[in-house]
Parts: sequence; structure tokens; C-alpha cells
Amino acid sequence: MTHPGEAGICARGLSVGYRSELQPVLSGFDLDVPVGHVTLLFGASGSGKTTLLSAFAGLLRPQAGTLTAWGHDMAGLRGSELLEYRRSVGIVFQSFHLIPSLSAWENVALPLRLAGWKPGAARLRAFEALDALGMAGHSRRRPGRMSGGQRQRVAIARAVGARPRLVLADEPTAHLDAASAADTVSLLAGLVSPGVAVVVATHDPRFAVTDSRVVHLGPDVGGPAGVSGGSDL
Ligand SMILES: Nc1ncnc2c1ncn2[C@@H]1O[C@H](COP(=O)(O)OP(=O)(O)O)[C@@H](O)[C@H]1O
Ligand SMILES: [Mg+2]
Repeated sequence: MTHPGEAGICARGLSVGYRSELQPVLSGFDLDVPVGHVTLLFGASGSGKTTLLSAFAGLLRPQAGTLTAWGHDMAGLRGSELLEYRRSVGIVFQSFHLIPSLSAWENVALPLRLAGWKPGAARLRAFEALDALGMAGHSRRRPGRMSGGQRQRVAIARAVGARPRLVLADEPTAHLDAASAADTVSLLAGLVSPGVAVVVATHDPRFAVTDSRVVHLGPDVGGPAGVSGGSDL
């Protein structure tokens, strides 16, 4: 059962980084990502936003401390369990990462097919997800013919295609003009529901206007500098 305020992701004393480096990027880091909210990761370039999102996505293993997702210890996930976890996460990138030779609906359907959905079901869900993002009229167009804002809508549709409970967006407005950025902000905020947590890494102050929790990543605390907002937490 989920309810607003429940920790979807919970980090305690977390250290995360890269094996090639002597020091972790973040260490001794505590954070709750509650279901039913947008959590914003603010921080300058190099402060560890992408690194932390990679850990949340199950792409980087914790080096110390604990990281749990919906009550499961992520350090213990292996093989098919890890794959299943990664499939429960939708990711939105700064530069969209759409496949140019595929139409919008094919881009949205592709990860569903790779996850084992039947062709008809994947197609139906792709059209439905695009429709929910106001892109029904563009389903058969290729991304190369779209504006940045439209591409990001397709990318968001792809991220939510499999109905993930965790949506991670890594600087999703960095390549957008002001109007499309504002649009993307409200679309991402609109993905929040009682069963879904949204995490947005950004240094875009426009995200702060949404009803969100804010986590600052910085040099002061060997990583994050503090958490504010979300008075119910
Ligand atoms: N693949 C990698 N291998 C080694 N170091 C990395 C790698 N990716 C990022 N880093 C380092 O980790 C730190 C945090 O980077 P990153 O998480 O990308 O920050 P942000 O997303 O906030 O800009 C930086 O010092 C960066 O150089
Ligand atoms: Mg980054």
C-alpha cells in the first residue's frame, strides 16, 4: 500500500561514486524520496546530481551505507531482480535520446517491446501515453521534425510508458526555450500520483515553483547541503 509521504527511495549514510575514482562523489548522504511528490535535486555542475540519479536507477551500486527502494535493499538486487527494478524506473534525459529513424509512437513502444510487451499492446499503450501528453496528433511524426518541447513530450511519454513508480529526470529543461521548459516542468509535476515519485535534477529555478521538496547538492557536506520544503514530511 502506498500513501503520500511514504519513502519510495530511502538513502542512509549513502556513499556513491565511480570505481575508477579514489573518493566517492557523495558520502554519508541521507535522503528520502517520498511517493506522491516531486523531489528536486539542485546543484551546480559536477555536484553529483547525475551520479545520484544513476544510483536511484539501479545503474550504480552504493559503495557504503544503505539505499532502499520501496523497502528493498538495492545493494542486494542481482540479475533478473535488478533488471526488473530498472524497468520500474522511467528516465527523462536532457537531450531526449529519441531514435531519429523511428516515429514518436515507435520510440515510446520500443522499450515496452524490449520489456516483453506484445506488439499490439505496446502500440496501444504508446498512443495512449502520447495522447496523455498532448501529442496524439504527432504520433506518426519523427523526432527530427519536432520542436525541442515536443521531443521532450515524446521522451516523457516513453519514460512513463510502462507506468513506472519512479520517474527520474536529469536536467530535462537544459536544452529547451523558456516556454517549453515551463511546459516540461508542469508535465513532470503532473506525473506525480499517490503511487508515483518524481525526481528532477536541475539547476533551473523554474522548478522551484512546483509543490516540491528541494534537496541541495553541494560541497559543504561531502555532498548534499540540506533538505527543505515538504512540511508534511
Ligand atoms: N563515469 C564517471 N567516472 C568517473 N567520475 C565521474 C563519472 N561521471 C561523473 N564523474 C564525476 O563525478 C562528479 C559528479 O558528476 P555528476 O554526477 O555528473 O554531476 P552533475 O550531474 O551534478 O553535474 C564529478 O566530479 C564528475 O567529474
Ligand atoms: Mg548531470
